[in-house]
Amino acid sequence: METPKKRILVVYHSQGGTMKRMATRFAAGAAKEQNIEVIFKKATDATIEDLLNCHGIAIGSPEYFGTMAGMIKDFFDRTYEVAHEKTIGLPYVVFVCAGNDGRGAIAQIERLAAGYKWKKVQPHLRVVGSPNTQDDDAVEELGQTMAAGIDFGIF
Ligand SMILES: Cc1cc2nc3c(=O)[nH]c(=O)nc-3n(C[C@H](O)[C@H](O)[C@H](O)COP(=O)(O)O)c2cc1C
Repeated sequence: METPKKRILVVYHSQGGTMKRMATRFAAGAAKEQNIEVIFKKATDATIEDLLNCHGIAIGSPEYFGTMAGMIKDFFDRTYEVAHEKTIGLPYVVFVCAGNDGRGAIAQIERLAAGYKWKKVQPHLRVVGSPNTQDDDAVEELGQTMAAGIDFGIF
């Protein structure tokens, strides 16, 4: 009998397309692992069930006005009460795109993730400006690394 796949939830927001491109590359990297299923959701479409049923979560946000995108915050707002006691220790990673900074968005997401008691399993990725080939490769590698760690039970 086939072992059920472990699920990585990729939650992202993108207004101008940059984060959509990064999240797509992350998902492609994660999907390279055979025993991983990627659930790819724009934050507005991501549900509490998606969160409760995943084995790891990747959050991709642009920085807008020094903070995470409002729709990423909305995802946290909608899920915290039900999820925070049920997702303790959930492996997570963050990747951010920004025009010139991005650190505000990262700090905020990490603070909220700490509220859920999730486990940061890789350093965050921050891309300033339009992603170049190296950035694209780095985000894909982040996806594959996370997936491999979850698949092998390291994370
Ligand atoms: C309304 C708005 C506010 C922004 N605020 C910031 C900011 O505070 N810091 C920053 O580094 N970039 C800022 N940017 C630039 C975006 O983070 C950057 O263009 C990012 O790549 C956009 O991602 P997206 O194309 O997925 O929406 C802002 C962009 C917009 C549209």
